[in-house]
Amino acid sequence: MRSSAVTDTTHLIEDLEQIFSTLRHEFGNTVNTLNMTLDVLISNYGAFNDSTKLEFLHRASEQVGRQHRFLDAMRSYARAVVGETQEIPMISFWKECVGLAESRLTGKQIGFKQHIQAEPYSILISPAAIYQILGHLFDNAVDAVTGAESPEIELAAFTHPGSLVVQVLDNGPGIPAEIQSKVFLPFFTTREGHSGLGLSISRKMLSQMEGRIELINRLPSGTEASMWLKIT
Ligand SMILES: Nc1ncnc2c1ncn2[C@@H]1O[C@H](COP(=O)(O)OP(=O)(O)OP(=O)(O)O)[C@@H](O)[C@H]1O
Ligand SMILES: [Mg+2]
Repeated sequence: MRSSAVTDTTHLIEDLEQIFSTLRHEFGNTVNTLNMTLDVLISNYGAFNDSTKLEFLHRASEQVGRQHRFLDAMRSYARAVVGETQEIPMISFWKECVGLAESRLTGKQIGFKQHIQAEPYSILISPAAIYQILGHLFDNAVDAVTGAESPEIELAAFTHPGSLVVQVLDNGPGIPAEIQSKVFLPFFTTREGHSGLGLSISRKMLSQMEGRIELINRLPSGTEASMWLKIT
């Protein structure tokens, strides 16, 4: 018991270190660039013509825009809360999940399979939150299989005592060992132009519904993303 508490604290500190490093990096870069741009503009104000002054002001404004986007992402994470839970019959729940998956794949050359193995129970969930999480998992899977030789995504569900497990499986490259411990951290991303929030928001929302999320690598390659939902 004692050792697992110690391990948890160690993980928490490591996670905080990583988040602070991201914040330092993001704000450090923009603040430095902003400082330099304004310094040059101020020192050369008399010598610069109007269009050069304007160009420097635009550069400064670009950096402020970047900070705003990052602040918006921080707000999105903070605001990700689960709405009221409802009891949803399994059949209609699954129909929605498959519909969402198909709409995400429209126009993309990606193979799709779906199967469910479950009794006609009901599940107690916040539907909007679950469909949002499924959207995040699909978005990641689509990104992972883009460029694969025979891209394929599978949506699956099965029951496990007390839970319904919903999985999104892809045949992309999988998650490299060195980033496995980081993928659930807010703002961790390897994707250009993305904010790295999908999985952290998903984990936050599932924990509010007494559920959980897990990502493991598949053999020979690919990722299996599973969300565990409570069955009533
Ligand atoms: N199915 C997957 N296959 C391979 N890598 C994945 C997969 N899902 C997530 N990852 C890795 O985990 C990282 C974090 O995922 P997450 O969804 O939190 O953020 P993102 O997709 O990068 O950005 P956002 O979700 O905000 O658009 C990704 O950048 C990617 O490196
Ligand atoms: Mg994502």
